Amino acid sequence: MIRTWQLSNAGRSLVLASRDDRLPEIVYWGAALPEGEDLAALAQAVVPDVTGGMLDRVPELSICPEESRTFPAEPGLIARDGAARPLRPAFRFVREERRPGRLTLAFRDAALGLGYRAHFALDGDTGLVAARAAVDSDRPIMVHWLAAPVFPGPQLADEMLEFSGRWIGEFQIEASPWRPGQRARDNHTGRSGHEHFPGLILPARGATKTRGETWAFHYGWSGGHRMVAEELPDGRRQIQFGHASGSETRAAAHFETATLFAAFSQAGSNGCAVAFQRHLRARAPQARRPVHYNCWEAVYFDHALDELKEIAARAARLGAERFVLDDGWFGRRDDDSSSLGDWTVDPRKYPDGLGPLVDHVRGLGMEFGLWFEPEMVNRASDLARARPEWLLGPEDQIEGRQQRVLDMANPAVRDHLFRAIDAVLSDHAVSYVKWDHNRVLPHADAAQTRGLYDLLDRLGTAHPGVEFESCASGGGRIDFGILERTGRVWLSDSNDALERLRIQHDAALFLPPGVTGSHVGPRICHTSGRVIDIRTRAWVAAQRHMGFEMDPRELTEEEADVLSEVTAWWKSNRDWRMGADILRLESADPAVIAEMQLAGDGSRFVLFAGQAVTSAQILPRPLRLTGLDPAARYCLRLITARDLPRLSRGAPALKSGPVTFSGQALMGQGVSLPWTFPERLHVIEGERL
Ligand code: DGJ
Repeated sequence: MIRTWQLSNAGRSLVLASRDDRLPEIVYWGAALPEGEDLAALAQAVVPDVTGGMLDRVPELSICPEESRTFPAEPGLIARDGAARPLRPAFRFVREERRPGRLTLAFRDAALGLGYRAHFALDGDTGLVAARAAVDSDRPIMVHWLAAPVFPGPQLADEMLEFSGRWIGEFQIEASPWRPGQRARDNHTGRSGHEHFPGLILPARGATKTRGETWAFHYGWSGGHRMVAEELPDGRRQIQFGHASGSETRAAAHFETATLFAAFSQAGSNGCAVAFQRHLRARAPQARRPVHYNCWEAVYFDHALDELKEIAARAARLGAERFVLDDGWFGRRDDDSSSLGDWTVDPRKYPDGLGPLVDHVRGLGMEFGLWFEPEMVNRASDLARARPEWLLGPEDQIEGRQQRVLDMANPAVRDHLFRAIDAVLSDHAVSYVKWDHNRVLPHADAAQTRGLYDLLDRLGTAHPGVEFESCASGGGRIDFGILERTGRVWLSDSNDALERLRIQHDAALFLPPGVTGSHVGPRICHTSGRVIDIRTRAWVAAQRHMGFEMDPRELTEEEADVLSEVTAWWKSNRDWRMGADILRLESADPAVIAEMQLAGDGSRFVLFAGQAVTSAQILPRPLRLTGLDPAARYCLRLITARDLPRLSRGAPALKSGPVTFSGQALMGQGVSLPWTFPERLHVIEGERL
């Protein structure tokens, strides 16, 4: 007997089929099937043949592949009972729950006393599938590995793209070929991490950023994920995502995965990126993003009230609308060796508390934001001295930034942190919290992440007017789990505009402009030593949620003018841009990193073309646009024309004034950019006529 289920929405269909009440397989995930498709026939059609050297039947590649079916590859569940005996369930169908766009399926292995549930939702706006799985047991068990519902990998595909990275070098795309066996990633750092952003992109053969079928996945969990992309001996391919293996460290009767988001596109990786971006846009507070000023790279731990007031006044004159007081305001925090955990204002630096600075900042018309690193503690702190038993991991562990981690699974720790942070937020007009996390955990522990989520949820409920930002030495904790609780991420500690240009471009595969923080750094970049022109620094920050992070007293008059102008441009365009899709452009020249931001209604766009390094050839290659209506006409204006160097001696049309072309011409032929220096950006505004 075959049971089938179908979810169809937003031009996509997901079909599951179960035979003889066993766990179902995803038998179709792609462009919408026509009405009336015979799903049972579809399920029948995908049943593989059998030949010599095989079992007599091919085991199902189900949503939780079972060892009990002699599945010849990674199973979806690895668990043991109380006596450490392996549990190899054979689940059978129990019930279904169908609601528009949603499906829940429940299964049980009565002999083992185990239940398995899978939830699927196909979003009508974004076309994203959100899938998660849960296991329930009659008795406590240990779970080493539980995959979110397992998807088949595409067959007509040669490579997969995943993400590695490092501090000041986040979102590095790694391409690996599909080969027999596993491509696996198991992140035991206890956070989503610079090194392992939990995403996977599977382009069909020939697909690019703008064209072709592409599937993409993101696991929305902040505690470190495991991914298995595996080609089975019979050629089938499976995609598994779950918490890092072994990160469920306690016996329990209930386990669940985080949400696995799955995207499908016929417009290359951009189609998947737009789905992910729209998902975050729909839930993050996008309206009127204020321009930030963050004092970290201006003063570090040297907080002097008069200086900070002067800096705030200058930042406000440049256009800042929110002032964030970074690390150094609490305990006796003169460097990074002490005081994490002691969340009371340092009376040496702020004898009258934070009130005078908060009042000054608000008097300048800016909001006030404050830095915390709640999950961490220095041994040189009152908290660690009073509560040594609250510190996670062995006494002789290797520290990170001279700090340790609090045991967030302990409700007493969370209560203490809630009270301490709540007191600061209640006593001051703080509307923003930058929530940092500057070291990996001593060991991966899913309970730690659940504890973090619980604390953030409590604080969010108690302070609905406060927005939270996720930072972890830059982009060390970026994922849709933390972004359910935070409205912005600090993408990277690199304020080097060139590095940032690349990081922002690749992070746009998942992140929309409004949640991606980007600041204008000091003239001499603190993490690369490079000196970058203020125009480049300002325009790169203006691509995303803009802010400043240099000491404004270092700016020349000309630099301040450029920054004020670009900031004014950012403000006058933010309303439509925070609802725009970022479309990464295919650049014929590897020296150029380019993107369009296209308004939701298609009426306008802005194009950023970054000349990251000197090109190999002497002249720019035309840049092809994307996402436009081929039949419509668009007027394009190069708003950075007056910044062009004298060495641009010719007369490409864009240089001298607006040009008008059809969408087809812009997408088919492209625009000819003027020659420019390396490390400069062209900014082009486009309007549909
Ligand atoms: C790391 C962050 O990424 C920086 O922006 C800054 O907040 C420091 N921590 C403060 O210690």
